[in-house]
Amino acid sequence: MQEIKLDSPFDSHLHLRDGDLLKTVAPISARAFAGAIVMPNLTPPIETIDAANAYKARVIQAIDAPFEPIVALYLTRRVKLDDVKRAKIVKLYPFGVTTGAESGAKNIGDFDEIFGVMQDCGAILSVHGESGGEVLQREAEFAPIYEKLAKTYPRLKIVMEHIGCAALANLLEKRENLYATITLHHLLYTLDDLLGGALNSHLFCKPIVKTAADRAALRQLAFSAYPKVSFGSDSAPHPKAAKERGAAGIFSAPVLLPTLAELFEAHSATDALRAFVCDNAQKIYDVKLPPKTVTLIKKPATVPNEIGGVVPMRFGETIGWSIA
Ligand code: NCD
Ligand code: ZN
Repeated sequence: MQEIKLDSPFDSHLHLRDGDLLKTVAPISARAFAGAIVMPNLTPPIETIDAANAYKARVIQAIDAPFEPIVALYLTRRVKLDDVKRAKIVKLYPFGVTTGAESGAKNIGDFDEIFGVMQDCGAILSVHGESGGEVLQREAEFAPIYEKLAKTYPRLKIVMEHIGCAALANLLEKRENLYATITLHHLLYTLDDLLGGALNSHLFCKPIVKTAADRAALRQLAFSAYPKVSFGSDSAPHPKAAKERGAAGIFSAPVLLPTLAELFEAHSATDALRAFVCDNAQKIYDVKLPPKTVTLIKKPATVPNEIGGVVPMRFGETIGWSIA
């Protein structure tokens, strides 16, 4: 049987939530990945290293496989410089742009001192890059802010999270210290999948999936093993009822590696998959992961309609690949 072996695959952008939902979703990621950057947009947000360590312990408690969760610190005006110095990743959410961004930055200039400290101590700035403008322009409107940050802090590693448009993809070549993550859903879908037929609220997320040209720009990066880009799922579970009321976030964790295998194979890019989900992240984040070989086999499997009250991406569909 055809197979693909992945050494320590890494999810560079993951939402694991807390409480019962954490217990439902964390084991799914821990089975498929050797580690992840875990997002801090809980209620209340993770604003201190103590809170990040306590959350990390709850994640580890919830899983049963070797897995390294790296919890990002949520940047607010309450964050202390001492904690910034001890953080590996600091996440910047502009105020109100997405789920859990109610504690986000109203004025990015408020954090100049913190960005200076971060570039001196080597912490990575992870950014949700969307403006408060018209929905399809929000990412492109953020491009000048990325450029300004990259220019003002040339030694600061800045990761443009879950890029969904060509305008942001184009910045990678322009600025040495800009990096990016790309999700599976932005590689797979366009606006037509979300709202071209019956509205599919399960494909609704921030930033929204966009045009075929935008998707082509992202595919070009992923399928060419472009080294400044790593896979970050942005798997973001919400209870089914909340999704049907329009909550932003796609629960993709149960289908990630099999769907990536299928997609890369369909585009004759299987050789680039390892760079995209394993090697690039190692280089960008310099993380220490438990050794873990994940084998994908070409055996079809059908995605369940619901997992613990959450509807996974591709529910009811059959994927051509499975995790062995
Ligand atoms: C994420 C969530 O639900 O936490 N939602 C989303 O639409 N992607 C937050 C985020 O990463 O924007
Ligand atoms: Zn996210």
